[in-house]
Amino acid sequence: MSPRDERRSRRDHAADTRLKLVENVVDLRVAVDAARASGRTVALVPTMGALHDGHARLIEEARAADPDALLVVTIFVNPTQFGPNEDFGRYPRTIDHDLIVCGRANADLVFVPDVETVYPGGIDQPACVVEPPASLATVLEGAIRPGHFRGVATVVLKLINLAHPQVAYFGRKDYQQLVVIKRMVRDFHLNVLIRETATVREPDGLALSSRNRYLSDDQRSAAVVLWHALQAATAAVASGERDADRVRQILRAAIDSTPAAKLDYAEVADASTLEPIDRLLVERPAVALIAARLGATRLIDNVALDLPS
Ligand code: PAF
Repeated sequence: MSPRDERRSRRDHAADTRLKLVENVVDLRVAVDAARASGRTVALVPTMGALHDGHARLIEEARAADPDALLVVTIFVNPTQFGPNEDFGRYPRTIDHDLIVCGRANADLVFVPDVETVYPGGIDQPACVVEPPASLATVLEGAIRPGHFRGVATVVLKLINLAHPQVAYFGRKDYQQLVVIKRMVRDFHLNVLIRETATVREPDGLALSSRNRYLSDDQRSAAVVLWHALQAATAAVASGERDADRVRQILRAAIDSTPAAKLDYAEVADASTLEPIDRLLVERPAVALIAARLGATRLIDNVALDLPS
């Protein structure tokens, strides 16, 4: 489909629902300013599209939290958060389907900017960026995907500045991203409340992800090992395990038991600072994070390691 036909198709879809489709900054600002002037809250759900039930749940939760809010979903595949050898070019773009999901989940407005709109100077020109602290951004995903969280933080700041929301929603599935965004909001005094929503899972426990569609049938069956590993860790902690290294071993052993899955990392970290911890303590909330490859597809997942107080 040519870009022009694609734009026409998007508009046709939006016209079928109460959804307003916006592709430029002026129209976005007009809608947002009008909502705020009339006393409505603006709620933002940033996405890269390829929307699945996890995104639908995020939008539905935002709607349920405030039935009167102007609920803005952004769909933008952000080039600056992809490394040179990553899947930016083949990242799924399913705009017609996405608009249907947004309409059904009762979003009001979908902002679908192009790269020039979000990056006015282009992405190859020197520009201001958000540099999250290395302790958050160069570990775990950041160690494997250098620059990823710079790209995420930069685009999220842009989207917050553009949509001017009072509240923005992010899923716990991308836990490290959530931590980076919360830190940015705190450090830059952004006047926006970050709300986090639970990971949505398939019936067998696999976390929903836009990348699950790349899995072959065999890889899809094997992918549930990430959830099994996290469950094994949770069970060990529930039975009294407090040694974080032992929990890491449990995570690693579970992934290693599935030959189709190759572990990237298995970590037990402080839930706010992502610092690896030695012992699980009631007063220091912790999270178990894992990443594994199924063929060329990397999947990530995490759980909070809650201790009985
Ligand atoms: O989680 C995502 O889909 C993206 O990283 C986000 C937050 C929309 C920024 O591009």
